[in-house]
Amino acid sequence: MGTKYTIILSVLTVFLMSGCKESTEYGGKKMNIKKEAFGKTADDKNVNLYTLTNANGLKAKITNYGAIVTSLQVPDRNGNLADIVLGYDTIDEYIKASPYFGAIVGRYGNRIAKGKFTLNGIEYSLATNDGENHLHGGIKGFDKVVWNAEPMQDDNGVSLKLTYLSKDGEEGYPGNLNCTVIYTMTNNDELKISYEAETDKPTVLNLTNHSYFNLAGHDSGDILGHEIMLNADHFTPVDEGLIPTSEIKPVKDTPMDFTKPMPIGSRIAEVKGGYDHNYVLNKSDDSLTLAASVYEPKTGRLMETFTTEPGIQFYSGNFLDGSNKGKGAVYNKHNGFCLETQHFPDSPNKPNFPSVVLKPGEKYTHLTVHKFSVR
Ligand code: GLA
Repeated sequence: MGTKYTIILSVLTVFLMSGCKESTEYGGKKMNIKKEAFGKTADDKNVNLYTLTNANGLKAKITNYGAIVTSLQVPDRNGNLADIVLGYDTIDEYIKASPYFGAIVGRYGNRIAKGKFTLNGIEYSLATNDGENHLHGGIKGFDKVVWNAEPMQDDNGVSLKLTYLSKDGEEGYPGNLNCTVIYTMTNNDELKISYEAETDKPTVLNLTNHSYFNLAGHDSGDILGHEIMLNADHFTPVDEGLIPTSEIKPVKDTPMDFTKPMPIGSRIAEVKGGYDHNYVLNKSDDSLTLAASVYEPKTGRLMETFTTEPGIQFYSGNFLDGSNKGKGAVYNKHNGFCLETQHFPDSPNKPNFPSVVLKPGEKYTHLTVHKFSVR
């Protein structure tokens, strides 16, 4: 009887594990990972959508196409869940035209002037896809490739481990680069993004996530009333092409100052084009520190962002113009904001900025945590 029971249990377990659902009970509540088909890429590769649900019912949906977070459901002060990231329902819409909604961008998140840099005396030319500059990894960056995916879980939460080998020469970058990104929906209501990479030739990299948040819900209009705090006394001013001028300027007495929480819209009219700037975080090492906090007064949602990176790009969704429609919503100007934790833009050409060079034998690591709560 005991043996028979064990056999039935094992068969059942194998059946459940091999099917499209893996689930576990934790602390009396449900946390689980669900896997479903999400369609095909242009070159006929199958991709999946993984739903990570933590013990408190918060849900992140992630596809291995572009390592994109397609949906993130977190509660408001009354416990009602809403999807707080902009995105699409289908892979075809992501393939057709996406302003990097929810994706991992790389090898180099943000801009490299004229797509050129010199490393150990060799000049490299990258794809230029933003006027004369290189943006977010080029024409086919990490947001447009298929990653290998492996669901994982432990007592702290549910994770999706994504890996991608970027081959020597891809988009003009030197070295075979092995990348791992692990998304974890923790039982402390955090979305944790942990990055690692190794190379076989000296190269440059700057990985980040490009989620557009709207804490009132992705379909609820502009984010100008969100109150943001950026833990940065300085920022890196840019030229017309959004390339840093090399200066590191104080934010004090300018509309760039968010050292105290302020509505995003309070002084945005004084910033040409809106916010699309790298802030130099107040820190002296690569420990995990508070970079930003954003509070949405109507729903009470609060997001606190911690990172090991030295900078954060605060982008106020300036280029959204209503042409991107997703998940039943029309995304107009300023309907979402991005907080891209990162090294500074154009660092390969700026000797005074923290280095983005990765050499063989070294390991690139980056951890960013978005913590959700209510007030
Ligand atoms: C980044 C850039 C912006 C813009 C968006 C995508 O955040 O800094 O200038 O290119 O990506 O539209």
